[in-house]
Amino acid sequence: MDSKNINQNDKFHLRWTLKIKFITFITLLIVVIMIFNGMFIIIREKRLLMAKIENESTALVKSLAIPVTNVFLYKEVGLLHEEELLENYISQLMEEKYPILYAMILDNENRVLVHSDLKKFGSIYNDPISENALRSWQTITQKYHDKNWGDVLDASAPLAISSKRWGTLRIGFSLEPIQARIQRLYWEILGLTLGIVLLAFFIVNILSRKLTAPLSILITEMKKTSVEQERQPLAIHSSDEIGYLACAFEDMRERLINSHRELKQAQDQLIRAEKLASIGRLSSGVAHEINNPLNGMQNCIRMILEEPENREQTGRYLELIDEGLQKIESVVQKLLDYSRKDPIMYEKVDVNHSLKKMLELLEYKFSKQNINIELQLDDNLPLIRGDAHLLEQAFLNLMINAYDAMPEGGTLTIRTKQTTRKRRKFVTVVIQDTGEGIPESELTRIFDPFYTTKDVGEGTGLGLSVCQGIIENHQGEIFVKSKAGQGAVFTIFLPVKSK
Ligand SMILES: Nc1ncnc2c1ncn2[C@@H]1O[C@H](COP(=O)(O)OP(=O)(O)O)[C@@H](O)[C@H]1O
Ligand SMILES: [Mg+2]
Repeated sequence: MDSKNINQNDKFHLRWTLKIKFITFITLLIVVIMIFNGMFIIIREKRLLMAKIENESTALVKSLAIPVTNVFLYKEVGLLHEEELLENYISQLMEEKYPILYAMILDNENRVLVHSDLKKFGSIYNDPISENALRSWQTITQKYHDKNWGDVLDASAPLAISSKRWGTLRIGFSLEPIQARIQRLYWEILGLTLGIVLLAFFIVNILSRKLTAPLSILITEMKKTSVEQERQPLAIHSSDEIGYLACAFEDMRERLINSHRELKQAQDQLIRAEKLASIGRLSSGVAHEINNPLNGMQNCIRMILEEPENREQTGRYLELIDEGLQKIESVVQKLLDYSRKDPIMYEKVDVNHSLKKMLELLEYKFSKQNINIELQLDDNLPLIRGDAHLLEQAFLNLMINAYDAMPEGGTLTIRTKQTTRKRRKFVTVVIQDTGEGIPESELTRIFDPFYTTKDVGEGTGLGLSVCQGIIENHQGEIFVKSKAGQGAVFTIFLPVKSK
């Protein structure tokens, strides 16, 4: 698997890739199987070889015992006088050499009569092996260890006819060839194990790459998947569990995108509802702003009707009527402008301009409620990227909230400036009032949807939640500072450059 790719995710550390797991498992499996198999083969082989050498040595000692016994018998009955015959037999046998180490003929006291090693002539054996050989009336084999020869198999046959015994014939066979054979077998099995492990390593490597390649694609796609954009279907066509996983992921992605779309629609509806509600709040002020010029215009018309011939007066009044109409038009235009439902559009936004535009809509209401407006706008404020209509909606809600908080009048301060936070440039908007303030316990709740302390028709409780949504969509942040009875300060940070 493409482990580099996965390691980029700092929350997850890939230590045991599937490949490593496969390889470890397969290697362990092979080693365990080979140990059991090897042990079985070695034990069986050892047994077979031992049986073979025992049979061969027994046959040899038995077959040689017959002529040797005959020699003793002939000597006994006086048919034979030469002594050399026995030495001949032994030296002939010794020509066979390896693995025969020695051959000897002993008398009934275990004294050496003939020995392949001439120096041993006359010496007496009294070790347990020799005692056993002497005691036995049958052909036997005995195993012992010699410091020069290593493991030795001693085959002995009694030189006897019925109850008459002359001595013992003994031949020593080296077991070293067997040991060497077993040793070689060890190495062969070890080599075979290594070979199989190596082969398995390559096969697992190829297999696991084949197996995990679609997983890598899946992981890359998962990382790239965003709820906002549709993507090409995954290029995974395997018909195994991984294919199934890819299919399930595809399904999940579709559902995610759908639910995100629905959420977005719901959000848009919420913003719209809040906007309509705020237009409702504006309407009383707007009505006044329309009524005032209308009254003036009515007076003008009345005057004109009274003196229709006075052309000079008529001209003056018509000018006033035109002025009134323009005023009405401008007010209606502002309201229409605000209520327009635009698709979200990211463009260069002059925050100062937007703030002033919204203030104009509320000017009449503020002056009627004895609210002073203090503007401290930074003239060198950079433009930001955003949706002017949405930002204006957010500002308007904060202004209406301030208006509602100061029923007895007060001061609304609007400040803009440029700030730097965490090495990023922000436009900061501060909207501060001297109203009733917010109790500390409620500070965390005011941004909740439908949280309101206002009467039905006055507040929907959606304003601040929509406001927060809009600011966050601009990758900005909104904070509030307030105490009961001490006014409220809302601070908005909007990044100059979005990430
Ligand atoms: N400037 C403010 N001064 C005092 N309280 C405020 C201020 N702004 C908001 N609040 C409180 O937060 C609540 C929620 O505000 P908002 O979400 O705009 O809904 P609404 O204005 O419809 O009640 C208000 O009802 C009010 O209690
Ligand atoms: Mg509000």
